[in-house]
This record gives sequence, structure tokens and C-alpha cells, in this order.
Amino acid sequence: MRCLAVRSGSCRPGIADLDAEGCNTTLLCMRSFVQPTLFARLSAVSRQLSNMSTAPEPAWKTILEKTSKENAGVASTLSTVEGDQPRVRSVIQRSMIMAKPWLPVMITTTDVRTPKVKQITGSSSKVELAWWFPEPVVQFRITGVAHILPNPSHPLATSFPAARLSPSPHFSWEDERYKTYATKMGGALRASFCRPVPGTVIDDYDVGKEWPEKIPPPGEETTDEEREQTKLALNHFALLVIEPSAVEYLELKVVPNRRTKWTLEGEEWRKTILVP
Ligand SMILES: Cc1cc2nc3c(=O)[nH]c(=O)nc-3n(C[C@H](O)[C@H](O)[C@H](O)COP(=O)(O)O)c2cc1C
Repeated sequence: MRCLAVRSGSCRPGIADLDAEGCNTTLLCMRSFVQPTLFARLSAVSRQLSNMSTAPEPAWKTILEKTSKENAGVASTLSTVEGDQPRVRSVIQRSMIMAKPWLPVMITTTDVRTPKVKQITGSSSKVELAWWFPEPVVQFRITGVAHILPNPSHPLATSFPAARLSPSPHFSWEDERYKTYATKMGGALRASFCRPVPGTVIDDYDVGKEWPEKIPPPGEETTDEEREQTKLALNHFALLVIEPSAVEYLELKVVPNRRTKWTLEGEEWRKTILVP
């Protein structure tokens, strides 16, 4: 059947044509009637396709992406644990990356010296994120584990599961960290990574007058002092990557209200409907 489809020009060799041993039956079939160079090119395309998933992205990811785009700048609330004490704070979600076709990971930025990093890498990597959007009156609650991606020479760098969370063999998490610093942080935020250790005690507010107010994006510095500040900021700048295992979506505008939960089981998100 597949040979006939190719002859009529309507068959696209792809993942569905690979048998259990990984043998592409469509291509084997085609070998007899296409030119060798064309056959080689089709084989290469087929190999690429066989590495890609045709699975649709998780439903919650599509909804969250659309909602957060329509509500740019809305902060989320991240909880961590410190011993038996929950700790929460506001954070901005910067992006989502499809670490695997079924696994979107959420990217926040932080200073590697902050207490939240100690909590995630010391007490427990379990986190929960609540993200409330006043319009269209919905809340997302994302449960998962967090990973810290600091500068490559930081002692925590080796704990980051870079290979497991890479969308492709060519993906570089360090490039992602650098790109996030260079393109998603404003001058004042870049400068904030040059301050003394966050959360430590100072004598009075005036101490802060000594700290840089803004620093330019990397490559646009004009003085040695600014270049040193970029180095320092990039040393402290880290990505906080949340790997979700469950997502709850609460819709309060629709009547009756709706609460939907997706739970990751293997590579599938199982959907359940809950009493709100
Ligand atoms: C609207 C808003 C957004 C914030 N975004 C971030 C952020 O993206 N990353 C971050 O580390 N801190 C952010 N902060 C500061 C944190 O809430 C918190 O004060 C700081 O990170 C120290 O937290 P920790 O002591 O629990 O580590 C934000 C604060 C506010 C009010």
C-alpha cells in the first residue's frame, strides 16, 4: 500500500513508516524506482523525522503560553521549602523551553547567591508556582522540581541535568543563560547582580548608593569598570528551571467554575477534572 502511495506522489516517508526494528519500509520500497541521490536525501530526511516527535505539545502549555503572552509582565509566586518552613516570593517567568516534546520547562532568572537557591539545592528541589491572571480570571498551579543553572565554573553547575533537559544534541544551556541575560534583562536588573549577597544585613539604605544603577548589555560596555561589572553580574546570574510534574488550571470566569489537572505519567499528561 505504501509503495502505491509513493508512486502516486501522496506518501511522505516519516516516523510512522519505521517498523519495530527501525527499518524504513517505505524507503526500502522506494529504492527500486528513485534515483540514488534522491534516495540518499530522502533517507537523511527520514532519519531526521524519526528523531522528531509528532506528538502535540501539552494542552496546558498552549493555554499558559497564550494567557501569559496576553498578560505580559504578570509575576508568578514561587514556593520552596527550607527545612519544614515554606518560603514564597514573586518571580517573573522569562520563557518556556520544550526540553522534550512532552516536557515544557519554565525559566526564571535569579541571583545564584539568593536563599531560594540554597533551599532548592539544599533542603528540597520540590517547588510550586502559582500564577494568577486577573484577565481572564484564571490561575495556574505548577508542581515540580527546580534546577539551578549558574555560570559554568560555579560548583552547582555540574548538578544541572543539561543533557536530560536538552531539546536537541546541539542545544546549549549556557548559551540560553547568556542570551537570557543579554536580551531579557534591563540595565537596572543587570546591575542588581553586582550587589553584595542578597539578603545580608547592611547598616542603612544609603549603603546602596555605592552600587551601580545600570549596566549596559554585554559587548556594549564603554569602560573597564563596566566590563568588570558585566563579568561580575554574569557570575551571579542563574537560570531557575522548573521541570513540572503536575499542572492545575482554575477558571473562575466561566460558570460553573472549572478546575482541570494534568499529571505527567511517563511521557503523557493525564487530564482530570476536579471540583473547583
Ligand atoms: C514583581 C516582582 C518580580 C520579581 N521577580 C524576581 C525574579 O524573577 N527572580 C528573582 O530572583 N527575584 C524576583 N523578585 C524578588 C523576589 O521576590 C525576592 O524578594 C528575591 O528573589 C529574594 O528571594 P529569596 O530570599 O527567597 O531567595 C521579584 C519581586 C517582585 C516584587
